[in-house]
Amino acid sequence: MSTQPIARKRVTIHDLRRMKEAGDRIAVVTAYDATAARLVDAGGADVILVGDSLGMVVQGHESTLPVTLDQMVYHSAAVRRGLSRSSGRAHLVADMPFGSYQASADEAVRSAMRLVAEGGAEAVKLEGGSDYVEVVRRIVRAGVPVMGHVGLTPQSVHKMGGYVVQGRDAEKAQQILRDARALEGAGCYAIVLECIPAELARIVTSQLRIPTIGIGAGPHCDGQVLVLNDLLGLDAGFAPRFVKRYAELGTQVQGAVSAYVSEVKAKAFPDDEHAFHSSTVRLVEVPADEEPPEEPSGVMGAPI
Ligand code: KIV
Repeated sequence: MSTQPIARKRVTIHDLRRMKEAGDRIAVVTAYDATAARLVDAGGADVILVGDSLGMVVQGHESTLPVTLDQMVYHSAAVRRGLSRSSGRAHLVADMPFGSYQASADEAVRSAMRLVAEGGAEAVKLEGGSDYVEVVRRIVRAGVPVMGHVGLTPQSVHKMGGYVVQGRDAEKAQQILRDARALEGAGCYAIVLECIPAELARIVTSQLRIPTIGIGAGPHCDGQVLVLNDLLGLDAGFAPRFVKRYAELGTQVQGAVSAYVSEVKAKAFPDDEHAFHSSTVRLVEVPADEEPPEEPSGVMGAPI
């Protein structure tokens, strides 16, 4: 029996729109490497986001700001390879990192094209509202679907004064709604709403024809996105209100490594079950003052 995964039809931007219209929720998860991509796809996620959150959860930075376009291309390509080894159903979106689209629409188009051509992404995501209408238009015109991102936009952490919930007062909420509508008008096919009140997310979602994908934006969005490391509980010390942990893998990984270390120290690993044997290989005693024989007898290599 074949163990090859069965390729399933890829989720497209049109499927996502249909899901909104049908009231079917869209599940989005981040992934940064091939193994994670394979597992997330097999878990049934509709969309995989190669988020610039990798700057924090993979690279260990304190913000997403140091992530480069080359790094995003590298991780996106790894995720694409992982997807091609699974059913390959999930729609693949890559984040445009800080500095890859803000300076000019021309540069934004070139950056988006690299993420698609070299990174294998089907769409790109960029942060920002009405100020980015022209950039979005130009990327979409170049044939690349764009996912917007409003509310808490981590690339503007210094402007926002920290990672704080956005749109709590009426004026700021109104601006977020205006931004979301402007992005829809510019051609975005979906919009991430990050860390805004659930009441505002409900209004934005009801006023847009394109799907909204929430993170820290309550239950009324058309879909939800979580960072894979967060939902797996890989970092026991990170527990913001909007994250639900569906596993405690951090504790499990630490336990597994510690069991391995103990067995190595106790000479209990590897045992016979994890060792290779050969009846033709034998230990040749070499007297201390003699050179070893040039051609040792026996087969020295065997496929694993
Ligand atoms: O970078 C990222 O992972 C994101 C999601 C949290 C929306 O932008």
